[in-house]
Amino acid sequence: MKNVDSRSHVRGESVYLDDIPLVQGTLYACVFDSPHAHGILKSLDTSEAEKAEGVVKVITAQDLPGENQIGGVIPDEPLLADDEVHFQGMLVAIVLAVSEEAARLAVKKITAEIEPLEIVTDPRVAYAKNDLIVPPKAFHLGDTHTAFRACDHIFEGRADVNGQEHLYIETQGAYTIPTEAGGLRVYSSTQGPTAVQRCVSRVTGLPMHLIEVDVQRLGGGFGGKEDQANAWAAICAVGTMLTKRPVKYALHRMEDMRMTGKRHPYSADYKIGLNKDLKIVAYEAVFYQNAGAAADLSPPVLERTLFHCTNSYYVPNVTATAYSCRTNLPPNTAFRGFGGPQGMFVIESAIAQAAEHLNVPASDIQRANLLQVDDEFPYGQLAESEAVTSWEQADGAFDFARHQREADEFNSNSKYIKKGVALMPVCFGISFTKTPMNQARSLVHVYTDGSVAVSTGAVEMGQGVNTKMAQVAARVFSLPIERIKVHTTNTLRIANTSPTAASAAADLNGRATQIACETILARLKEVAKGLLGAENTADIVFENGFIFHKGEPTDWDWLKLVNEAQMQRVSLSEHSHYATAGIHFDWGTAKGHPFAYHVYGAAIVGVTVDCLRGIYEVDYVKTVHDFGHTMNKAVDYGQVEGGIVQGIGWMTMEEVVYDEQGKLRSNALSTYKIPDIYSVPKTIDIIPLETSRENLGVFSSKAVGEPPLMYGIGAYFAIRNAIRAYNSTVDPAFDAPFTAEKVLMSLYREISKEMKVGK
Ligand code: MTE
Ligand code: MOS
Repeated sequence: MKNVDSRSHVRGESVYLDDIPLVQGTLYACVFDSPHAHGILKSLDTSEAEKAEGVVKVITAQDLPGENQIGGVIPDEPLLADDEVHFQGMLVAIVLAVSEEAARLAVKKITAEIEPLEIVTDPRVAYAKNDLIVPPKAFHLGDTHTAFRACDHIFEGRADVNGQEHLYIETQGAYTIPTEAGGLRVYSSTQGPTAVQRCVSRVTGLPMHLIEVDVQRLGGGFGGKEDQANAWAAICAVGTMLTKRPVKYALHRMEDMRMTGKRHPYSADYKIGLNKDLKIVAYEAVFYQNAGAAADLSPPVLERTLFHCTNSYYVPNVTATAYSCRTNLPPNTAFRGFGGPQGMFVIESAIAQAAEHLNVPASDIQRANLLQVDDEFPYGQLAESEAVTSWEQADGAFDFARHQREADEFNSNSKYIKKGVALMPVCFGISFTKTPMNQARSLVHVYTDGSVAVSTGAVEMGQGVNTKMAQVAARVFSLPIERIKVHTTNTLRIANTSPTAASAAADLNGRATQIACETILARLKEVAKGLLGAENTADIVFENGFIFHKGEPTDWDWLKLVNEAQMQRVSLSEHSHYATAGIHFDWGTAKGHPFAYHVYGAAIVGVTVDCLRGIYEVDYVKTVHDFGHTMNKAVDYGQVEGGIVQGIGWMTMEEVVYDEQGKLRSNALSTYKIPDIYSVPKTIDIIPLETSRENLGVFSSKAVGEPPLMYGIGAYFAIRNAIRAYNSTVDPAFDAPFTAEKVLMSLYREISKEMKVGK
């Protein structure tokens, strides 16, 4: 089934924030952001900006009607800098003007006197100064201390993994309109309408019931609009409060890149112990998370790094510790995988190091340690079986040994062009690790023309959740999908939502929608029972808009029945609630059952590296992936393909660069390279895991949004393997992304050695 938005997308008719028709009198906002990464804000001169043409108002911290605070998890982040600046790009003053251009020109006239303070950009430096966002978190399983003594092989090392710019096609933005009784309607490009509502309430001082947040769809979020959409909405809201006029702010790309946080870079130390038959007996890891200047979502991201620090492997003795380190960078935030991918990169690095030193294929170590049924994760939950089965099915379908053999044969005949192959198993837990967030609501109306309107807390951001919601209603009512319309995500229709995140939106909101539709259906069946003189509602079946009784057609169809129900004063609307059963987690013991289920999969990744130039191509990614019983193959395969490409981008070419002054050097698409159509692997093969079971997803489908990104990690190790096929003494640091420059530099050192000895 096609995505319900395909047609309007290709015709350019889909509505994004910037497409909303503007109300007369709309003002445009633009912000003055800190040019220094750390310092005392001695003075701020906005007088020239105030006099500039078209400017209506300039707003600073002192003017805010409510609290100067936007920190969601921890209240440590002012909306506008007050006495200090903590990162380059921190918001300092807002200009409101009659045109966008006037606002931007006026911002240039603002000056600030900032007395510099020490700038920290390295999380290990912040750790040494004990500058942590939250107290450290740790997981323990078994006893690593004793276990290491019994190991035959122990390897220690360091792995670094960089951040990632979200680069959603639609930049951040908001548009606010004043409503009756001093209220606000807020259009926001956000994954978290309730987070925006709460933040706007705090900064304006208005109660939440006067703030309506409406989200049509996003041109991508990828985690970057889970919490970081709040500031722009708050800016517009304050502007509207103070001027009584609508205010719009849609960020330019360079503003967005400069002022928003990204995926968290991590630096980690690891120690891995194996026995003779390649079983991992013990694993220790210490993670230093580069949180940036404020908490944002760093604490839960840090936790998920721990949750996924052993990826798909069973390790009986684990000690993993994680520090969230405060630096003078924009606060880093959620990004597809939410800290999990960073944790996985570290254990894959440890395995790669062990394999290279033991002179065995890394895949032998990976295979020997895959989770079996009922193996315990470091957080206490027990594994389902699919880690082994997805690997075996992938091996059966793709023949790992053949791919390796082909690469070896190619390499033996090619001096400078080398092929590398790597395996990448993935295991990702589904549910918000904060249990209370695993709830959702849905509002379903059946109208008297037979059409159906659905509203949920889920935000459409390209992942196809609206298509899935429409499918749920269509399936329960047995109606064609055209009879269903999924509407905007709106806080007046659906309150207290969790953000669309953790890959759980379809599960949670889909189950809520299912409950709402089934409730209405049951009422309609009661009406039909009376009309048909049936004994039992179970004998009544709806099919394609027709009503059957005991398998026989009746005179009743959907439209007639709906109208009869309305005549009988039976409600055709339902607002329903769903909360995932059986999940819990206790940070006191760091044990529990946090996930409704896990998504498993295994991929083989092949690359070709030009060892003269350092450039490479990803030739293929072939995966057996656990979709459960997929609800929509087109949507889900799109998620896997997109996730893989985004993961490869993170691991290979996307390089976020801040200089020592905390200035973002990769601040535009000319200096920050993301995968384009030419860098997409020539082959992406996707085979669904056959042994999927019943699970807590909607209609037993499994969440798909984030897990496939982690197959991209395989590309890093495939490049490494290709380099080592060229020169087995090359031992580059585990330091992602593996940019072409890094590939070349790691090879160049060796080539220069070769030249010295006269080869
Ligand atoms: N796919 C597209 N096209 N655009 C996005 O912004 N976000 C990803 C993933 N897939 C995203 C996407 C992230 S970070 C998450 S958490 C999930 O979608 C959220 O949606 P879901 O819960 O409906 O899977
Ligand atoms: Mo996704 S990182 O959970 O928004």
